[in-house]
Amino acid sequence: MRHELLDREWMYRVEGYRRAFELVDGYVDAFVEGLRSGRSMGVERIDVNRVLLLGMGGSGIVCDVAAEILSSKGIVAQVSKEYTAPPGEWDLIIAVSYSGNTSETLNSLLQFLDRGDRVVAVTSDGRLARLGERLGFKVIRVRSGIQPRYAFPDMLGGILGYLENLGLDLERINLDEIRGFQERLKRDKGVDENPAKEAAIRISKSHPIIYVYREVRLPGYRLKCELNENAKLLCHYAEIPEALHNDIEAIPRDGLIIAPRSFREPYEISKTIEALSRLLGERRVLELRASSKSYFEEIIELFMLSDYISLYTSILRGVNPLILHRIERLKDINAAYHEIKRRLDEKLG
Ligand code: F6R
Repeated sequence: MRHELLDREWMYRVEGYRRAFELVDGYVDAFVEGLRSGRSMGVERIDVNRVLLLGMGGSGIVCDVAAEILSSKGIVAQVSKEYTAPPGEWDLIIAVSYSGNTSETLNSLLQFLDRGDRVVAVTSDGRLARLGERLGFKVIRVRSGIQPRYAFPDMLGGILGYLENLGLDLERINLDEIRGFQERLKRDKGVDENPAKEAAIRISKSHPIIYVYREVRLPGYRLKCELNENAKLLCHYAEIPEALHNDIEAIPRDGLIIAPRSFREPYEISKTIEALSRLLGERRVLELRASSKSYFEEIIELFMLSDYISLYTSILRGVNPLILHRIERLKDINAAYHEIKRRLDEKLG
């Protein structure tokens, strides 16, 4: 397998892979550009104590990260990934849909159209952008023409830039540190010095099982989604310690435990992973670590690591990371989607 990745270096030049790597290589620049768009929305002084975030899939995980950051600032933040939003009084509703046409997100947003002054959308286009123009809520635009999951840094930057304008004090983000970590993940770094290549090789030979705990839940979930969408690989995802009371009995022979780790990891979790590794054998546990010891930088580094792992795995599996076979097709044939769009189009006139 080691040689297999070397033998496949020509694939980096094939369009789907070339473009996917180019997008992931541009992570930090895209984040900075997103921050700029968010900040350009102008300064507002509204009291924000309760925030609802709406978004699915590649847009939904942007909501998850933003919600975690908001929660760390003592703000109540809830993410909804449903056709209808949870009831409640919200000071701010953030609707994220890269295409601007995702029915779950749009339908949930319909509940708040009389609260336009408290709605902000993040999108590249679509009905969400048109709805914003028509009803006068804020729309943070991100670059168009890419797959939603690759616009993660753009959309997250957009939200964080906007939140800064609301007076939310985000710690200074050390972009140089993130860039430094990213250098180790790029194509020109050999297998022995590149943790993403090393991980992809092991994942390709096994049945991947991602075990997360609270501090690494989101990067672990990102890895699952990216392995699904980019590498077309089904993988198991569960939370520990709970999974160690049931799930663990069903780990198959070729199961590889993938454990993202955090510098914020509680002592009990460290000891638990240590014990698991003794039980199964070290070779069956793959640890993923960032280099940063800061909260935000660590999350972004683990996200980048996950994205690169999924791209190297797509190479080893010989599948095009940019082409999706089912997600859009299902949207096309889903009658609920059509009904929601019809209702929206009526509103849009
Ligand atoms: C595709 C992807 C999907 C979409 C999801 C929602 O790259 O990641 O998970 O993000 O189908 O679509 P959008 O993001 O357009 O609202």
